Amino acid sequence: MSWRAVVLTLFPDMFPGPLALSLAGRALADGVWALRTIDIRDFATDRHRSVDDVPFGGGAGMVLRPDVVDAALAAADPDLPAICLTPRGAPLTQARVRDLAAGPGVALLCGRYEGVDQRVIEARGLEQVSVGDYVLSGGEPAALVLLDAAVRLLPGVMGAAASAEDDSFSAGLLEYPHYTRPAEWQGRAVPPVLLSGNHAAIAAWRQEEAERITRERRPDLWAAYRAGADRLPAPAARRN
Ligand code: ADE
Repeated sequence: MSWRAVVLTLFPDMFPGPLALSLAGRALADGVWALRTIDIRDFATDRHRSVDDVPFGGGAGMVLRPDVVDAALAAADPDLPAICLTPRGAPLTQARVRDLAAGPGVALLCGRYEGVDQRVIEARGLEQVSVGDYVLSGGEPAALVLLDAAVRLLPGVMGAAASAEDDSFSAGLLEYPHYTRPAEWQGRAVPPVLLSGNHAAIAAWRQEEAERITRERRPDLWAAYRAGADRLPAPAARRN
């Protein structure tokens, strides 16, 4: 059985969107994963087909109704982990993506307006996930991000299996920089070690670059990496 994505949204036409192209699109066509959209509006009960209402307590925007969202969630596969995309969620990590890719699939609830009534999030035990510290106009682009990240890890999707292991974050570091031909371009040379054919020296250079870039750009990742490295028996990759 293929990996299953169920997306609950007011805008089903946004899917598969960009995921119909490239790696994920080929995998979708090949049946490596399957996509089902559920139109939340189909579960509205009044004659206006309304899905949202004003927030109790006042304030701007509209809130998705718990009864409508609950009925839509009841139509999703009950064996899939259910995630609500929201800027208030826990940050999406490569580790979480890896776990989701290793499971049966995922059900994704895309919030709109000011959000989703908190009671249905609690009643359904939805995991709340954010794709970054910025606000999108809805959860749909976040769902596309999560699906892209998970689908590329499914068996057979990526050409070179090794490249996922080298990815940024897989080892807790940002990835080293890449170079290809020409060896000199606009007066800029490729780092000579990469042309040396010395695989140990190349691996050491890449490790150093990954550590340097992480230290400079992501002090948070660097601190976590250092804390992890300190627990290793051999002080293999330590640097201040
Ligand atoms: N919906 C709106 N902004 C979002 C974000 N940053 N992550 C996930 N879902 C969102």
